[in-house]
Amino acid sequence: MSSEAAAPVDHSGEPHTPMSDPVSDQSSDLGTLMSTAADAVTAELDRLIPAVDGPRGPVVEAMRYSALSGGKRLRPFLVMQSARLFGVPDAQALRVGCAVEMVHCYSLIHDDLPAMDDSDTRRGRPAVHKAFDEAIAILAGDALLTQAFEVLGDFSTSRDPAIRAALVVELARASGAAGMVGGQMIDISPARTDMGFDEIARLEALKTGELIRFSCVAGALLAGAGEGERAALAGYAADLGLAFQVADDLLDVTGTEEQMGKPVGQDHGLATFVTLLGLEGARKKADELVESACGHLVPFGASADNLRAVARFVVDRKQ
Ligand code: IPE
Ligand code: IPE
Ligand code: MG
Ligand code: MG
Ligand code: MG
Repeated sequence: MSSEAAAPVDHSGEPHTPMSDPVSDQSSDLGTLMSTAADAVTAELDRLIPAVDGPRGPVVEAMRYSALSGGKRLRPFLVMQSARLFGVPDAQALRVGCAVEMVHCYSLIHDDLPAMDDSDTRRGRPAVHKAFDEAIAILAGDALLTQAFEVLGDFSTSRDPAIRAALVVELARASGAAGMVGGQMIDISPARTDMGFDEIARLEALKTGELIRFSCVAGALLAGAGEGERAALAGYAADLGLAFQVADDLLDVTGTEEQMGKPVGQDHGLATFVTLLGLEGARKKADELVESACGHLVPFGASADNLRAVARFVVDRKQ
């Protein structure tokens, strides 16, 4: 591997918002809340992944380039909002949010590699393997994944070792072959061109849904909440994750690369919620899923209003 293979683009790793900001574009209270949370996530990630000089420099630069590059920060927002239901201090939720965002960023870096989706852009700028090189992109993904567990396992995430262990186990499950990686595997399998609704839903529940599930349940885990509350949040997350992916499929057809900050039309030739249901059918399905997601939040009353609003955001988003 060549450690001096830096390409001629900005590697500063500084917070970077090249596109219109999907979060602050929202005029509502939710938009302000999400923006504030996203800034806090970026600041905390900046603190957790300090730049280093010397031979290790490029991999850390690539981690920072990916992790400090904007994005909606949906998963950390879900962690922070689920934690608030139980009165968990924001500082703890922020650490867990950063851990899941690290896993998410790793998954995006690897997803964009030539061996996977071969995508050259992400979040409105060159993908990590273009800005650096493939070897550095692989290592940066590996290091972000690993650091996520270091963050969860640290005393400052929770003083209770059982809670730290539960967070580590749950994020590991959500990320690995029984979760996101398993979904990625099915996504690149030959069977992918010809799947029915249930198979696509299963694939997406793993690929996208599991990290969203972890994010929604994390607040309950941090609080040591009971099984009933965890199950309610998991039910919300299952519908939200599916709604998120229906929207992703819709945006792959209706969005532009400029708007999305990543290539569109990549699902062409694959079975997706849009090919199965049609554009209108997919929109209707997304709306039904939002309603169903919110139905799971009844036990939390008005304290879950931000989670209700974010379910709507997930399907109305333009990025
Ligand atoms: C994109 O996720 C990848 C999928 C799971 C479809 P997001 O749409 O949450 O990406 P960012 O974090 O906002 O860039
Ligand atoms: C990848 O799904 C989701 C993960 C990285 C787990 P996609 O390949 O559909 O995501 P985008 O469209 O590139 O963001
Ligand atoms: Mg992919
Ligand atoms: Mg992709
Ligand atoms: Mg997609």
